Amino acid sequence: MTNADTFQVEEFAVIGRTFEEYRDMFDLDPADFEGRAILDCPAGVASFVAEARNRGASAVGVDPAYERAPDALARECRSDFRATADQIREKPALFDWEYYGTIENRIGYLKVAHERFLRDFSTNGDRYVPATLPELPFADDAFSLTLSANFLFLYGDRLDYEFHLDALRELCRVTSEEIRIFPLAGLDTEPYDRLDDALDALRSEGRRVEIRNVPYEFQDGVSEMLVVTP
Ligand SMILES: C[S@@+](CC[C@H](N)C(=O)[O-])C[C@H]1O[C@@H](n2cnc3c(N)ncnc32)[C@H](O)[C@@H]1O
Repeated sequence: MTNADTFQVEEFAVIGRTFEEYRDMFDLDPADFEGRAILDCPAGVASFVAEARNRGASAVGVDPAYERAPDALARECRSDFRATADQIREKPALFDWEYYGTIENRIGYLKVAHERFLRDFSTNGDRYVPATLPELPFADDAFSLTLSANFLFLYGDRLDYEFHLDALRELCRVTSEEIRIFPLAGLDTEPYDRLDDALDALRSEGRRVEIRNVPYEFQDGVSEMLVVTP
């Protein structure tokens, strides 16, 4: 495969999605959010936490990027946003356009997400915890629901299997009811190659695992999430 055939990301893209995109990636019912402790990990510059708080959830975001000062993080995410937008415009054939409709609409979502995030991060910094998987600074069962988007499995080419298992176990430790993870494929849209091993490992520890279809698809053919009951 050449660079033109896949979406290229150096290290990890500091970009974000909106609440609406999370709702669809994780097939969530926001009516369930009132009073719930929800973890978004990694949250990056997504606006999910800010918008879930507006809906009454006690949402918290985790990301190593929160070590940075707000202005430094703003510069970094605007630069990653421009690089991502350029690549989407250059390689539209890599994506399924049914969800977003047009290139500019998809880019508009990215911009709205990080602008909403940046406003919230600079005024409600206590909702955003700087931490790095596979270790989280929370008590056992601190959250009822944990969401993990666009990190585990997606970067399977640079994060090894042991990292994935350790991170999955850590998400289970801090979550009492349910963990949802999307997507289950890499940047090249190929399914994560050791997903079955990871599911077997979680099952053998007494956890329930289920793969479900979701009403969201942008990477071609990638529309499944993993639900783990810890
Ligand atoms: C593509 S963003 C995903 C953000 C958000 N979940 C979304 O879907 O819009 C990936 C994030 O992973 C974060 N990251 C990189 N290494 C990490 C680690 N070891 N633990 C937790 N987050 C990490 C990066 O800082 C980046 O913000």
